[in-house]
Amino acid sequence: MKLAIASDHGGFELKNYIMESLVKEKYDIEDFGCDSAESCDYPDYALKVADAVACGNAEFGILVCGTGIGMSMAANKVRGIRAAVASSAEQAKLAREHNNANVLCIGGRILQKEQAEQIVKTFLTTYFTNEERHLRRVNKIMEIEKLK
Ligand code: RB5
Repeated sequence: MKLAIASDHGGFELKNYIMESLVKEKYDIEDFGCDSAESCDYPDYALKVADAVACGNAEFGILVCGTGIGMSMAANKVRGIRAAVASSAEQAKLAREHNNANVLCIGGRILQKEQAEQIVKTFLTTYFTNEERHLRRVNKIMEIEKLK
């Protein structure tokens, strides 16, 4: 499975930890930066990962900033992206099962490393249910996007 990952300075350390963990599990992962803990702007990195997912170069994206919130706001501006912030494995699971989220956003200043690892792995191994009601609602989200 091909993944795209990025962070800002607030998520840099956690991104490195998550990447190491995913590489050990043989995920094919492309790092879109940032490359140090120096202050930078999260929308620049959200856009790189969102573009990679939206154009099909990556199946899923992972974005890490201080809270996960700014990254999700920015990523959700890109057509085709359904980015979800998760602070628990349950949220990550439901973001996949009900919302068919394709980008996971997590907070390096919110989560412990092991917690984050569990959230990421849950997200990557959970399938969208494809149930009619969830599909209908996700399609409605994508329709909103078409009108903007
Ligand atoms: C950076 O200080 C911080 O604002 C950023 O990492 C993120 O939490 C934004 O949502």
